[in-house]
Amino acid sequence: MVDLNTVTYRVATPSDCDSLVMFVNNAYGGEIARQGWTNANEIIDGQRTDRNAMDVMINNSDSIILVVFNKSDNILIGCVYLQHKSDIKTAYLGMLTVRPDLQRSGYGKMILSLGENYAKGQWNVDYIEITVIVQRTELVEFYNRRGYIEIGEYQPFPPDEFGRLKRNDLQICTMKKSLKT
Ligand SMILES: CC(C)(COP(=O)(O)OP(=O)(O)OC[C@H]1O[C@@H](n2cnc3c(N)ncnc32)[C@H](O)[C@@H]1OP(=O)(O)O)[C@@H](O)C(=O)NCCC(=O)NCCS
Repeated sequence: MVDLNTVTYRVATPSDCDSLVMFVNNAYGGEIARQGWTNANEIIDGQRTDRNAMDVMINNSDSIILVVFNKSDNILIGCVYLQHKSDIKTAYLGMLTVRPDLQRSGYGKMILSLGENYAKGQWNVDYIEITVIVQRTELVEFYNRRGYIEIGEYQPFPPDEFGRLKRNDLQICTMKKSLKT
């Protein structure tokens, strides 16, 4: 299991934009993504994100991206996006990504928990909300094991927003976790 002392993390700035676009796209789909244990290759073609979308996530006043680096060589290990929904004391968490060749070592769980702690510490939220493609059952199960519960909200996956869909029955479900103690 990875040790928090071996990593360093910070909030992404506009200068991280280009490297993050490449990093996220390489982990969600394409050949490099196959080095990891889960990716969207079987259901979506094309890019997960682009410069415009990343710019918005980095520059909006209600959202941040945490970027996590290996302390010893400063290699980017992973990232996670957080958006504050202050009216419902909730943070939306998305784009949880770990470099494919470093997956299955515990970084995903570590970064998820860093994101939860950031949202609780900075925004004092009571809940974390995520959306997951229902057909990626291995991911739904991964989040279940981290305390996320499906809340019964299902929507069709937005066509062409995140690449080209390879099937037309894709759905996203909302999952929630309470941070209240
Ligand atoms: C999802 C992701 C962030 C996980 O990162 P990671 O560093 O591999 O995660 P960890 O090493 O902390 O945990 C791996 C978990 O997956 C499980 N796992 C590993 N291989 C698996 C497989 N083939 N099938 C199902 N589960 C598997 C492990 O058992 C472990 O869960 P557990 O500790 O509850 O048993 C990473 O795979 C990723 O970046 N994927 C591409 C981008 C993406 O799809 N992100 C999710 C958006 S919702």
